Amino acid sequence: MRLVITGGLGFIGSNLVRHFLKEHPTYEIINLDAETYAGHQENLEDVASNPNYKFVKGHIEDTVLVNEIVSGKKFGKIDGIINLAAESHVDRSIMDPQVFVKSNVLGTQVLLEAAFKHGLKEGTKLGVDAEFSIRYLQVSTDEVYGSLGATGYFTEETPLAPNSPYSSSKAGGDLLCRAYFHTFGMPVMTTRCSNNYGPYQHPEKLIPLFINNLMNDKQVPVYGDGANIRDWLHVKDHCIAIDTVFHKGQPGEVYNVGGNNEYTNMEITKILLKATGKGEEMIRYVEDRLGHDRRYAIDSSKMKKELDWAPSYTFEQGIAETIEWYKNNQEWLKQVMDKVEDTVPVTPVAAPQAATAK
Ligand SMILES: NC(=O)c1ccc[n+]([C@@H]2O[C@H](COP(=O)([O-])OP(=O)(O)OC[C@H]3O[C@@H](n4cnc5c(N)ncnc54)[C@H](O)[C@@H]3O)[C@@H](O)[C@H]2O)c1
Repeated sequence: MRLVITGGLGFIGSNLVRHFLKEHPTYEIINLDAETYAGHQENLEDVASNPNYKFVKGHIEDTVLVNEIVSGKKFGKIDGIINLAAESHVDRSIMDPQVFVKSNVLGTQVLLEAAFKHGLKEGTKLGVDAEFSIRYLQVSTDEVYGSLGATGYFTEETPLAPNSPYSSSKAGGDLLCRAYFHTFGMPVMTTRCSNNYGPYQHPEKLIPLFINNLMNDKQVPVYGDGANIRDWLHVKDHCIAIDTVFHKGQPGEVYNVGGNNEYTNMEITKILLKATGKGEEMIRYVEDRLGHDRRYAIDSSKMKKELDWAPSYTFEQGIAETIEWYKNNQEWLKQVMDKVEDTVPVTPVAAPQAATAK
C-alpha cells in the first residue's frame, strides 16, 4: 500500500506517520506538508531515513502538485489519502480567517477531486455502484458540532453548528467529504476527535504552552474563568483510531473519537502546576477568547460498537508521560518556538500567548 498523509510534520500527523511506519512496515508513506509555522522536520527526524518514508513540501490546495502525487506519476499508484493538513489554531482563525478557508476547505476539495479523478476504476458507473481504488479519510474535529451545555454528548447525528472560523472551515471540509460520497460514491470516511495531547504538540496549545511556561518560570494565561470544559485523548489513541477507520470504516460514515476525560481548563492548569512544583501565583487570568465554546464532550460508542476501538491510555498515565516528554525535549520546544516568533501576527483580539485548549 502507498498512502498520502497530509500535514505529517504537525502534531498528530507526525505521530500518525510514525505509527503507520511501525505498525504497517510494508506500507509506503508520502507526507505532503507545507511546513507552515506548525510543521517541523524535527518531529520526524527519527524516521526521515526510513526507505518507506517520502516527504513532499507543498500545499494541499496546489492542484498541480496534488494531482502529480495522487495520479501516481511521482511515486507510483496511491491507495489512500489521510488528510490532516489544516490550519488548526482557533486564536489564529480569529485573527486571520482566510488562510483557514484556503487550507481547510479548498485544500480538502483539491484532495477529494484528485482522489475522485485518479481513483475511479475504469468502466464503473458513478454513484452507489462506483468503484474506487483510493480510500479517503478526513481527520476532523468535535468542534464542528459547536458548544454543549452542562450535560449531553456530541453524537455523529448532532447537527453541525461551528462557532469559530477554524471550526466552520473544518465543517466546510467535512461537508465536501459528505458530498463526494453522496454524489460520486467515493469511499470517504470522516473522524471527529476531541482535544489531543501528547508528544510533539505545538507549544501554542494549552498543555505544552503551560508546561513550557512553567519550566521557564513564566505565568500561564488562563482564559476567562477557566471553566471551559474539553475532553482529552492521547494522540497515540487517536492514531490507532485513524488507522482503524482507514482500514475498517464504512464509506460515507462519520466516526466520533473521544477520550472520556472531561476536564475544565482550570483543572488541567492545576494538574500542570502540581507536576512542575509551582503554585497558583503562576496563573494569570486573561480576557476570554471571542466566541469561546463552553463545553465539548464526545460520545464515541459507535467506534467501540462497530470498529472495536477504545482508548488505551488513562488520563493520569498519559499526562504524566506527556509532561516527562516535554521536560526531556526542551531543545525541541526552543526550536519550535523560534519558528513561531517570526510568524505570529500581533493583534489585540486574542494574543496567541493566551492560548487555550484549541
Ligand atoms: N490537535 C487536536 O487536538 C485536534 C483534535 C481533533 C482534530 N484535529 C485535526 O487534526 C489535524 C491535525 O491537527 P494538529 O493539531 O496536528 O495540527 P498542527 O497545526 O500541529 O499541524 C498541521 C500541519 O499541517 C500542515 N499544513 C497546514 N496547512 C497546510 C496546507 N495548506 N497544505 C499542506 N500542509 C499544511 C502544517 O505545516 C502542519 O505540519 C487537523 O486537521 C485538525 O483539525 C486536531
